Amino acid sequence: QGPIYILALESSCDDTAAAVLQDTTVLSNVVARQHIHEEYGGVVPELASRAHQQNIVPVVDVALKKAGITREQLHAIAFTQGPGLMGSLLVGTSFAKSMAMGLNIPLLAVNHMHAHILAHFITEEGYDIPEFPFLALTISGGHTQIVQVNDFFDLKVIGETTDDAVGEAFDKSAKILGLPYPGGPLIDQWAKEGNPKRFPFTRPKVDGLNFSFSGLKTQILYFIQKNTAINSNFIEENKADICASIQHIIIAILMEKLEMAVAQTGISQIAIGGGVSANSGIRQALVEARTQKGWKTFIPKFEYTTDNAAMIGIVGYYRYLNQHYASRDVVAKARIPF
Ligand code: KG4
Ligand code: ZN
Repeated sequence: QGPIYILALESSCDDTAAAVLQDTTVLSNVVARQHIHEEYGGVVPELASRAHQQNIVPVVDVALKKAGITREQLHAIAFTQGPGLMGSLLVGTSFAKSMAMGLNIPLLAVNHMHAHILAHFITEEGYDIPEFPFLALTISGGHTQIVQVNDFFDLKVIGETTDDAVGEAFDKSAKILGLPYPGGPLIDQWAKEGNPKRFPFTRPKVDGLNFSFSGLKTQILYFIQKNTAINSNFIEENKADICASIQHIIIAILMEKLEMAVAQTGISQIAIGGGVSANSGIRQALVEARTQKGWKTFIPKFEYTTDNAAMIGIVGYYRYLNQHYASRDVVAKARIPF
């Protein structure tokens, strides 16, 4: 039997993405980003759905062309079933169903958060693959979870946010500072030149392995309001230090909970995923943990951290091997557990 070719689609939020995998190797990974949301300071669901509708056919065409694969060579189609914005998910789901039906090949339904984790199993030169069991820290604009991964399809959420996601903490803090959406990467940029100890923010008290970020956002808002009342140029004069201090507290919160998770489970292999794992501070903290804490840490290639279809394809591949095919009446789900 020759290689398995899978076309994967991702349309859960504001990026329309398609990828082609040959077994665990990515042949193409195409993303059409929607910049329309920047002027609104956040993703506008209605606009996102319309843009997916417009982009999905060209994105799939480019992915196939770049991979050098024809539709007829495909073995299956994988798509994001959820979680995400319903209107966005419906575009990818309907497209995947129709194409699978037209080609008469299996359909593979993928959980977006599962994909952020299994992205580590993509074959990529210079990147190691974790061994089971390991802990996954999934940090994105919609999620903050610590997941114990025992096998490809045996995952248990052992900690999660009780309110905002860590990406929202970055983006909302950036908004308070007058930075455009999504502000996470901009805080990261500014933080590089700042002093992380200059403005000490306090950690929220949350039991166990759970997180809370809404209190931090309020703390930052009051801090900025208080200081700009005294000096109207406070933000401009201290932007790098403010960003470094915000990033510092967020990373301290994440690392503290990871340490607790390691102590609790006895597992010291840590893999990160999701858009916020592109953050240079968290990447550095995980690299340092290798020597300082003796952890084995896995940091994905940049293009597999933010939303992409290659990660949907790798879950699709393992589902295909296990014949976990979705029925043709499968529906998109805004919320979906593992
Ligand atoms: O995984 P993702 O692309 O989409 C979701 O599923 O949410 O994550 C997007 C989130 C946004 O909140 C964005 O600000 C954040 O990831 N992000 C970052 C960085 N790059 C992306 N946050 C901090 N530092 C970064 N370098
Ligand atoms: Zn994501």
